[in-house]
Amino acid sequence: MCGIVGYIGSKDAVNVVFKGLEKLEYRGYDSAGIAALCENEICIRRSVGKLANLKKNLLANHIHSNTAIGHTRWATHGKPSEENAHPHTDSQNNIVIVHNGIIENYIELKNDLHKEGRLFKSETDTEVLAHLIERYYDGDLFCAVQKTLSKVRGSYALCVLCKHEPDKIICARKEVPLILGIGTGENFIASDIPALLPYTRDMVFLENGDIAQVNREKIAISDILGKEVQREKKHILWDALQAEKDGYKHFMLKEIFEQPRSVEDTFRGRIYPNEGKVYIEEIKLSAAELKKISKIYIVACGTSYHAGLTAKFWFEKFAKIPTEVEIASEFRYREPILDKNVLVLVISQSGETADTLAALRLAKENNCQTIAVCNSIGSSMSRESANTIYTHCGPEIGVASTKAFTGQLCALYILALDFAEKKGTLCESESCKYIVQLWEIPLKISAILKKSEYILKIAKELAHKKTFLFLGRHLNYSAALEGALKLKEISYLHAEGYAAGEMKHGPIALIDENMPIIAIAVKSRVYEKIISNIEEAKARGGAVIAIVNDCCKEVEEKFSKTICIPESDDIISPMLTIIPLQLLAYYISTILGCDVDQPRNLAKSVTVE
Ligand code: M6R
Repeated sequence: MCGIVGYIGSKDAVNVVFKGLEKLEYRGYDSAGIAALCENEICIRRSVGKLANLKKNLLANHIHSNTAIGHTRWATHGKPSEENAHPHTDSQNNIVIVHNGIIENYIELKNDLHKEGRLFKSETDTEVLAHLIERYYDGDLFCAVQKTLSKVRGSYALCVLCKHEPDKIICARKEVPLILGIGTGENFIASDIPALLPYTRDMVFLENGDIAQVNREKIAISDILGKEVQREKKHILWDALQAEKDGYKHFMLKEIFEQPRSVEDTFRGRIYPNEGKVYIEEIKLSAAELKKISKIYIVACGTSYHAGLTAKFWFEKFAKIPTEVEIASEFRYREPILDKNVLVLVISQSGETADTLAALRLAKENNCQTIAVCNSIGSSMSRESANTIYTHCGPEIGVASTKAFTGQLCALYILALDFAEKKGTLCESESCKYIVQLWEIPLKISAILKKSEYILKIAKELAHKKTFLFLGRHLNYSAALEGALKLKEISYLHAEGYAAGEMKHGPIALIDENMPIIAIAVKSRVYEKIISNIEEAKARGGAVIAIVNDCCKEVEEKFSKTICIPESDDIISPMLTIIPLQLLAYYISTILGCDVDQPRNLAKSVTVE
C-alpha cells in the first residue's frame, strides 16, 4: 500500500527516486509524485495513474536536484486525483511530505488545523501531517516531526523535506516498513529492498517508533522521545537482477518460471534425503516445548491463507498436532482461546500485511509460541515473531503471488517434518520418503512448465467465458481456491473455488454449458471420489478441463481437455497442481489484455486493515 523513496547525495536525485518508485510500483499505482529541493525552493511533479504518466511529466519539466522524495499511491483517503497525489505540502510550501499508512485521527486533527486558519488542498489524511509539522516548526525539522508524530494515531512510513534545512531528510516509521540504504557520501530511503539494490546492499530496517535524520554523510536514529538508538546494519544478498523482468513479458510469468529454483533455494541446506533428516536452524522451539503444543493456529490472508490450508494436513499428519487455519482479518477480531501451549504460525510473503501482523501481536500478548513464514527479509513479522523461517524466493513483484506460494508450501512442509522429527511421530523411513518427495519437486515443476504452450492453447479456448468453477478435494481443495483467486485477481473474471464433494449441496445448480470446470483430479486417496464429482458436473453440461497425472491417461476421454502433470505422493501434490492453474490464469489475463502485474484495485502489500 503505497511506496516511498528518498535520496540525498550527489546524484540526480529525481532520477534515483523515480527509478526506486519503478521498483515499488507494485505497492500502488493510482498516482505518483516527486518533490525535490531546487535552489532553496521545493519543486513538485505529480501525475494521476501509473508512473509512466509521471515520467512524461518529468521529461517535460525536469528538476535538477540532489535531494528528493517520491511516492506511488494506493488510494485510501480521497480518490485518485492530482490534488490527492503525494507529495503534500504545508500552507507556505516550505515543508513537503510523502506518507504510506493511515492517520486514524486525521479528522479531529484537521478540524483543529482548520480552526487555526490552515487551508487544505487535498482530501487525504496525509496533508494533516504537513500542516502539523508547519505548526511545530521553529527552525528544527526533526523536533517538528517528533512533536507531530506524538499527536497522531495510526500507521506511517514517511519522508519529510524542508526548504530551510536542505541538507537533510527526516523519516519515520510505525507499523509499515521503511528501510535506510547506506551509501558513501549519499543515503537512500525506501519502503522495500528492491528500490535500494541498484545502489547499496547495506541496509538498516527502522523499528516501530523510530525517527531518523538522514544526511549525505550520516544517519542518526532516535525513538519517539528523541533518545538516540542504534539499529544493526544488514547486508542484503538478494541479486538486483531478481527484481528485473529478465526478458519475460511480465514479472508474473518470470516468477512462475522461477519456481524450480525458488523451491530448491527454500529447501537447500534444510533437507537431507539420504539421512531422512530436516534441519531448520532458525527454529528455537525445543522438542520439550513442542511436545507441550496442544494446538496450532495458522493465520494468514489471500494466497498465504491458501498455503496454510494445505499445511494443516502436514501438521496433523506428520506431527499429530491439531491445526486450525484462519483468515487474519477474522481471527484478530474474535476471541480465540490462546495460551502458552498454542502455537500461532503466521504466513506472509511481505511480512507486513496489517491483519496478519495484528494476529501475530495478539498471539504474543497471550504468551503463545510464534513462528512467521516470510519472504521479505527484515519485515515486521520476521522481527516481531519469536521464530522466522524465510522462504528464499527473492523479490516477488507481480501482484499475483506465485513463487511465494510454492515457497511457503515448501517451508511449511519442512517445518511439519521438523516437528515430526522432534516429537518422534514419524519413523525414519516415512521421513525419508516425504523428504525425497520434496527433493523431486523442482524437476517436476520444470516438466510442467514445458507444457506452457499447450496451456496457452487451452487459455485461448476459455478466455471468452465469463465464469469458472475450480474443483478440488482433500489437499487440492486449497489449490482449487488458489487457482480461482489467481484467475479473478488478474482477469477480473468470476471464478469460484469449491470442494468438489460439496458441490451437490448447492453450487451444482450454477453449472451449464457456459461454465467451464477446472478440476484437479490427480492420483490420491480421494481420486475415485473426485472423478465421480466431475462426472456429476459434466452431466450438467459443463466442459471439464482436468489436471491429471501422466499415468492416468485412461481417464482422458472423460474430460474435454486434460493437463497431465508428473505423479507425486498426494500429500505434496498441491506444489504441482497449482503450476498449470497459475499459467492458465496468466494466459487468460494476457489474452484479455489485462494488466497482469498490476491488476486494478490491488496492491502487493496490504498494510492497511
Ligand atoms: O504479503 P502477504 O502474503 O501477507 O499477502 C497476503 C495477500 O494480500 C496476498 O497473498 C494476495 O492475496 C495476493 N495478491 C494473491 O495473489
